[in-house]
Amino acid sequence: MARDTHLTGIERFFDPGEIIVSKTDLKGRITYANDVFQRIAGYGEAELLGQPHSIIRHPDMPRCVFKLLWDTLETGREIFAYVVNRCRNGDHYWVYANVTASRDANGAIISYHSSRTVPDRRVVEGAIVPLYRQLLAEEKRHSNARKGLAASFDMMCAVLREKNMQYDEFLFSLARAA
Ligand SMILES: Cc1cc2nc3c(=O)[nH]c(=O)nc-3n(C[C@H](O)[C@H](O)[C@H](O)COP(=O)(O)O)c2cc1C
Repeated sequence: MARDTHLTGIERFFDPGEIIVSKTDLKGRITYANDVFQRIAGYGEAELLGQPHSIIRHPDMPRCVFKLLWDTLETGREIFAYVVNRCRNGDHYWVYANVTASRDANGAIISYHSSRTVPDRRVVEGAIVPLYRQLLAEEKRHSNARKGLAASFDMMCAVLREKNMQYDEFLFSLARAA
């Protein structure tokens, strides 16, 4: 499906008491989106169900963050991530997401679930925006998409190595420092 990537540059905000929730199948197709999701993203339920979650992908998001998300989920572990999403009309909104795998009685992964809350502005502006900009620039430096992804993923790993932290430790450290 061709994706409309028009952007307005206008940020949308939601209430600190609200949680944006969605669930997907194993391929990342949306099976549930709560009212807050629909309101902020600007889509009706019928427009979301069955669509790939990338329907709200924002072009400022580095691909390596989604690689880490999928690599982590497929091993059954949860992941936290700061994500900027694109609304239907091209506005955008930042979230702090916790994404988990759900299992059946035999332990097999059957779906994924994401709950998103309002992110700390100081973390987004002070650490995440500059980091994502750097990762995206590295990704775009390569004409080959596969090489761009690998290079930006390596860059992210190098940042973590330099801090001597796992990815989630790094995120928690940002929240503590803010
Ligand atoms: C439960 C779940 C929630 C997700 N939430 C988002 C989201 O809010 N925004 C987003 O861009 N991608 C989200 N993704 C990742 C997308 O599936 C996809 O990997 C990403 O948008 C990159 O798409 P692309 O590789 O087609 O560019 C989510 C995936 C899962 C499994």
